[in-house]
Amino acid sequence: MSEGLVNSIYLGAAILFILALSGLSSNENARRGNLYGMFGMALAIIATVFSDAVTNYWVILICMGSGSVLGLVLARRVKMTQMPQLVAILHSLVGLAAMSVGYATYLDPEMNFQGAEKTIHDIEVYLGIYIGAMTFSGSVIAFGKLSALINSRPVLLPGRHMINLIMFLVVIYYGTEFVNAQTLADAYIPLIVMTVIALVFGIHMVIAIGGADMPVVISMLNSYSGWAAAATGFMLSNDLLIVTGALVGSSGAILSYIMCNAMNRNFFSVIAGGFGTPGSASSTSAAVTGEAVSTSVEEVAQLLSSAKKVMIVPGYGMAMAQAQRAVSDVSRILMGKGVNVIFGIHPVAGRMPGHMNVLLAEAKVPYDVVFEMDEVNDDFPNVDVTLVIGANDTVNPSALDDPGSPISGMPVLEVWKSKVTVVLKRSMAPGYAGVDNPLFYKDNTRMLFGDAKTNMDELVKALG
Ligand code: TAP
Repeated sequence: MSEGLVNSIYLGAAILFILALSGLSSNENARRGNLYGMFGMALAIIATVFSDAVTNYWVILICMGSGSVLGLVLARRVKMTQMPQLVAILHSLVGLAAMSVGYATYLDPEMNFQGAEKTIHDIEVYLGIYIGAMTFSGSVIAFGKLSALINSRPVLLPGRHMINLIMFLVVIYYGTEFVNAQTLADAYIPLIVMTVIALVFGIHMVIAIGGADMPVVISMLNSYSGWAAAATGFMLSNDLLIVTGALVGSSGAILSYIMCNAMNRNFFSVIAGGFGTPGSASSTSAAVTGEAVSTSVEEVAQLLSSAKKVMIVPGYGMAMAQAQRAVSDVSRILMGKGVNVIFGIHPVAGRMPGHMNVLLAEAKVPYDVVFEMDEVNDDFPNVDVTLVIGANDTVNPSALDDPGSPISGMPVLEVWKSKVTVVLKRSMAPGYAGVDNPLFYKDNTRMLFGDAKTNMDELVKALG
């Protein structure tokens, strides 16, 4: 395929990727956005495989074949609740690829640059390996934390900011050594030392972040993986990879910023890796005491039937129980009885951005009754019954009233302000952040214990 044709296809693919991102910005267009992205990626792969740069089709075929089989098996096996782990481990592969490409291009005997060109190429290689290695190890740790293989509590080493600063200075020092190296032998040591530091830096950065702050880490690693891909694009002189990497990198950074705002965290301290986790490690949370009042499905059915306005607040437990269809049925029955039913979604409810929206869309809940937290948080005093379905941290009042709480400062859905709040969960256990929840002991709170799907199915019967 001629270079001109390859570049034209790349341009088309880049436009499709931009359309994909804009499609993903709303629920209604998300499916179309995904299709644009898939089509763009198919074009990009075809153009790359049939470009002059590829000479050995066997290697490509074997790699693509085994990768596709592995991807297909994984995608079919992974449950919706395990998506964040999958995303994290896929980010690690982008980092690993950037690292490998960095070493491969540096060792490639055909890359024979001189003067300024050599300096630029060396900087690309050094940066590419650095970002790649950091993304790789950070994502592996994030995978471990999200899949509970590693404890989600933050590990804060004494003087961690100083450690980061020293590592950064060493990386810069060896960077100059690497660029000035005249022989391969001189370049090895700086490259290997930097790679080891970048790997340690990735681990150190993510391990210092507490469970409650993991959403930001996911989007941040998403951004890093984009920059790693862009760096790979520079090393391979592949314009599409540069554009795509920059799109992923910048959209991931914007998403991180939005998530930080949603959790009231400082964006720049996240990017620097030294995460502001007030109280996370040495939490001085106020003790939560009192007696929770449990209720029954029949009682909740009566409450709902006599309500004028009902708010449904789903959380990770709804995903775990796969209760979204029953929840959708309950909302439809109530709407049929003339009750005003709306959904309130916290930006970090569940385990990944948009988790609840995807589940509700899958269960055919109309988009126009699903609202973001900011749109409904002032409504609670006018709500007769709030149904909290498997949500915990995102409805925890101590985020607002307990400065010692690990989630202090995080905006939450103020469900306790509604006339009655019914919480569906199996026990009094805390949520992901491991923090007790005073909501359960409020006078106007009723606990409906049990699996959310079983209880919602029963509620459908009781209401029907
Ligand atoms: P959580 O605070 O994790 O609470 C979920 C609750 O669901 C648990 O307390 C659990 O209580 C209940 N539950 C689990 N299985 C259930 C079942 N089968 N039936 C009924 N209840 C069930 O959830 P949330 O309010 O959605 O908050 C999300 C948390 O995850 C936040 O801390 C957030 O920072 C973190 N996080 C979010 C993301 C993103 S991007 N959204 C990523 C990583 C982490 P029982 O065990 O008593 O049933």
